[in-house]
Amino acid sequence: MSAVRGEFSSRFGFIMAAAGSAVGLGNIWGFPTQTASNGGAAFLVAYLVLAFFLAYPALMAELMIGRHGQANAVSSLTKLTTRPWQKQFAFAVGFGGILCAGFILSFYAIVAGWMLSATLEPVTTLVGADAASLWLSEQSLTRNILFTVLFIILTVAIISRGVENGIEKWSKRLMPALLGILFALIAYVMTQEGAVEGLKAYLVPDFSSIFDPTLLVSALGQAFFSLSLGTSVMIIYGSYISKKENLVSLGAYVTLIDVFIAFVAGLLIIPAMYVAQAQGVEIFSTTTGKLLSEDTLVFQVLPALFDGMGGVGLFVGFAFFALMSIAALTSSISMLEAPVSYTVERFAMKRVQATWLIGALIAIVSIIIVCNLGTLFGLVITLTTKVAQPLLGLMCCIFVGWIWYRSSLLKAIQQGNPDVHNTLFWKIWPWYTKFVCPVAISLVFLHSLLS
Ligand code: PFF
Repeated sequence: MSAVRGEFSSRFGFIMAAAGSAVGLGNIWGFPTQTASNGGAAFLVAYLVLAFFLAYPALMAELMIGRHGQANAVSSLTKLTTRPWQKQFAFAVGFGGILCAGFILSFYAIVAGWMLSATLEPVTTLVGADAASLWLSEQSLTRNILFTVLFIILTVAIISRGVENGIEKWSKRLMPALLGILFALIAYVMTQEGAVEGLKAYLVPDFSSIFDPTLLVSALGQAFFSLSLGTSVMIIYGSYISKKENLVSLGAYVTLIDVFIAFVAGLLIIPAMYVAQAQGVEIFSTTTGKLLSEDTLVFQVLPALFDGMGGVGLFVGFAFFALMSIAALTSSISMLEAPVSYTVERFAMKRVQATWLIGALIAIVSIIIVCNLGTLFGLVITLTTKVAQPLLGLMCCIFVGWIWYRSSLLKAIQQGNPDVHNTLFWKIWPWYTKFVCPVAISLVFLHSLLS
C-alpha cells in the first residue's frame, strides 16, 4: 500500500477486481440473450473477434491512462494535457465518465435488487412463508425500493473499506464463488432434455449471418459494456496498479476472464432456454423465431424452469439468483469507486463520508427511477450504455492516440514490461488506438443513435 492512495496488493487481487467489474449482469444475462436473439453461434464468433481486437485495445487505453496518472479519472486525464482546451476536454471526459458510472449504478442497483429478492424467494418458499414468497416474486414499489436500497448499502459497505480491504478482498472471495456456482448449474442443466439442442444453437455457427451489420454493432456494443469501458472505472482501477506490474498481460487476463465467463454463461443460459422450451415454456416466437421477452425472460422463464425441477428447483433457483447478485455486486463496487475516488481526492474528504454521501445520492436517483419505471428506466439505460459509454470510450482512445506525447506513452507501456518492444502489442497498439479504435467506436455510436 502506498502512503497516500490505496493500491492493489497483488496481481491476483487486481485481476479479480477488474474482472469482477467486467463480469456482471452484462455477461450472465446480456450476452446470452443477445446471442439468442442475434443468430446464436454467429453472434458468439463476432463477439469473440471484436472483444479481442477492439475492446481489449480500448481497455488498455483506459488502464494506461490511469496507471500513468496514479489518480482519479479527471486528474489522470489532465496529466496528459498541455493546452488549456485539452484540460477542459480532460475534465469533460473524466467527469463525464464518473457521472456515467453513477447513472449506470442507479439502474443497475434496481435490476440487482430484483436479483436479491429472487434469491430470497426460494428461501421463503422452503420455510413455508407463502405470503412473503408472493410479495418477493411480484413487482411492487415497496419491494423494488427496499431491495434497491439494500443493494446500494451492500455496495457502500464494501467501498467504504477502501481498495485493499474492500474491493480487493471481496472480489477475491466473490469471483471464484461465482465461477463455482456457474459450473455446478451447467452440470445440472446438461442432464436435462433439450440441453443438447441448445448447445448446438450456441456452438454451431451459421456463417451466412456473421457479417450482418446489426449483429456486428450489437456484438461490439456488448463487448464495450461488458469490459466497463467509457465510465472511468478502468482508469481508476489502472491507477491502483503498481508501475512494476506488466499492464499488457494484466489487461489481457481481464479480457480473457470476461470473455470466458460470458462464454460459460452462454453454456448455461442458452441450453436452459431450450430445456424450458422442452418443458412447454414459450421462449421463441413461433412466427418470427425471435426471442419473446428479452428483459423479463430471466424472471419468467427461469423460475418456470426451476419450478419444473421439483424440490431441487428451489436450491437451483437460489444458487442461480445468488450468482447473479454476486456478479452484480462486483460490478457495482467498481461503479461506486469512480465517483468516490474523485470526491476523496478532489475535496480531501474522508473515504467513509464520501462513500455514504455518494451512495445516498445514487439511492435517491434510483428511487426516482423506480417510481417512474415505465419512462425513466429505459431512458437512463439508453443514454448511459448506448450514448455515453461509446462516446467516452472513443474520447479515451483519442487521448492516448492524439494528445498523449508518443515518447511518454511508449515509456508508460514499457513500465513493468521491459521486453515489450519485441511484441506485437508494441508494434501495433499505439497505431491501432489512434486510428482503428476511434473509427470503429464511432460506427457503434452512430448505429446506436440511428436505431
Ligand atoms: N461490465 C458490467 C457488466 O457486464 O455487467 C457492467 C458495467 C460495470 C458497466 C462497470 C460499466 C461500469 F462502469
